[in-house]
Amino acid sequence: MNETIRFVLDGKVVSVDKIDPTRTVLQYLREDLNRLGTKEGCAEGDCGACTVVVAELDESRTHLRYRAINSCIQFLPTLDRKALITVESLASKDGQLHPVQQAMVDFHGSQCGFCTPGIVMSLFAMYEKQEHATRNEINQVLAGNLCRCTGYRPIVDAAEKMFQLDRQKTSSPINKLETITVLQNMEEHQTLHISDGRKHYYSPSTASEFARLVEQYEDAHILAGGTDVGLWVTKQYRDLNSLIYIGNVRELSQIKIGSTHIEIGAAVTINDALPTLIRFYPNVEELFLRFASPPIRNAGTLAGNVANGSPIGDSMPVLLVIGTTVVLRKGETTREIPLEDYYLDYMKTTAQAGEFIECVRIALPKENQIVRTYKLSKRFDQDISAVCGAYSVELAAGQAEHVRVAYGGMAAIPKRASSCEAALEGRVWNAEHVQNAAAALDEDYHPLSDMRATAHYRSLSCKNLLQRFFLESSGFQNESNVYSYGR
Ligand SMILES: Cc1cc2nc3c(=O)[nH]c(=O)nc-3n(C[C@H](O)[C@H](O)[C@H](O)COP(=O)(O)OP(=O)(O)OC[C@H]3O[C@@H](n4cnc5c(N)ncnc54)[C@H](O)[C@@H]3O)c2cc1C
Ligand code: FES
Ligand code: FES
Repeated sequence: MNETIRFVLDGKVVSVDKIDPTRTVLQYLREDLNRLGTKEGCAEGDCGACTVVVAELDESRTHLRYRAINSCIQFLPTLDRKALITVESLASKDGQLHPVQQAMVDFHGSQCGFCTPGIVMSLFAMYEKQEHATRNEINQVLAGNLCRCTGYRPIVDAAEKMFQLDRQKTSSPINKLETITVLQNMEEHQTLHISDGRKHYYSPSTASEFARLVEQYEDAHILAGGTDVGLWVTKQYRDLNSLIYIGNVRELSQIKIGSTHIEIGAAVTINDALPTLIRFYPNVEELFLRFASPPIRNAGTLAGNVANGSPIGDSMPVLLVIGTTVVLRKGETTREIPLEDYYLDYMKTTAQAGEFIECVRIALPKENQIVRTYKLSKRFDQDISAVCGAYSVELAAGQAEHVRVAYGGMAAIPKRASSCEAALEGRVWNAEHVQNAAAALDEDYHPLSDMRATAHYRSLSCKNLLQRFFLESSGFQNESNVYSYGR
């Protein structure tokens, strides 16, 4: 096994070994390297003050792809075989600012400055990926960066203008060709094992080796994007003794489109899955653009959301109504189960010791199928659902068939509404039957009151969302907030 983390920082290969594998990238930057530009605001992926950019080889292994991530919840060993770019990396050696920095100065995008390094890094990742951006796209990129001072307008102005500064005169903070060569030379088939003598971290590169490790170390936690697991350490101060990282298993990072379903590998991030999901189910776009923030979606996986099984997880209601199965693997053996059978009770699933999700399989849409999903939360962006509703119906000559309704935030698990579905199945798709089905939701759910919503709010809003689905499926057009809020 390889026992050293290697990553590129400012053109140099950094090697680290024998560290606590749950040390975060942010702790390492600030406490070990004394690079204090990257800030800590919340230590839970919410505020964006800690945003850094990771560059890694893309699928072709000949180009770099850039991802903004939250360094406060990312464990250091996950940087292995990547390049790290922080706010200190951006200005050239002679002091010339990068266009994103220059534009922030020119347009007064910074006041107290606490959020600024994170904002600059989110915009830098955007600058590397595209040639220009609309205000709406800029707003979406900044959805995970909180600024309490500026009101955002000068920041969005700066972001628009950074694209107009001369790219030819801009020296890139990393020498791309050199970095690609260094990363190619780091390609490795051995498992990375990092340990401080007490805690262990394994990062295999093949699915068989991953399966073997998960079976061998039954008590170990699987680490995917770490957007749930990271908080166990930074907020709950849990000691995680063994982690097995899925992020470097290339076979599990694939999306396959078959004749009946889409297969999303367990290591595919939400942002990488999004274009395929939207291609087949355009109406899920708003939900997934409101799922956390770009840096969280750049790290967090769809399989991690499903595996975590939170009752307020956003992807499960829609996956339940579309028709999804989970492929579970133990060693070399796999079994496939419907997603509704995966959840047993609050945060309890049917997965056995030594078993993991290899992929999720999502049914392709039918010709006359209408699918919608709606998220209700106190804040529009970067907030957890109070209620998340998802609906699917196939309409044949005005009659409802294969009706599926599911909610998050209404029960201890993400759950289909069987009484509501039964009240609609095979009936004429009209207001009267939808009203009866809405009433039946009281048999399906007995929600709790908590800090996000009262039980009364939840019971009422799940019915209203069903009505909204009926109206939209009957031709009533509701303007999407995602498209309108950036105008
Ligand atoms: C600021 C913030 C905002 C968030 N907003 C939202 C939101 O709006 N909506 C929402 O639904 N969630 C949200 N989340 C939660 C989180 O981002 C998602 O649940 C995410 O999809 C988890 O994926 P991950 O890859 O990061 O999982 P990890 O944190 O790596 O793992 C999560 C759990 O799943 C297990 N696991 C991971 N992969 C597998 C596998 N292949 N097989 C078996 N077990 C596995 C892990 O062991 C762990 O128990 C948010 C989190 C943060 C920090
Ligand atoms: S410190 Fe707030 S997102 Fe990381
Ligand atoms: S400038 Fe003060 S928080 Fe953004």
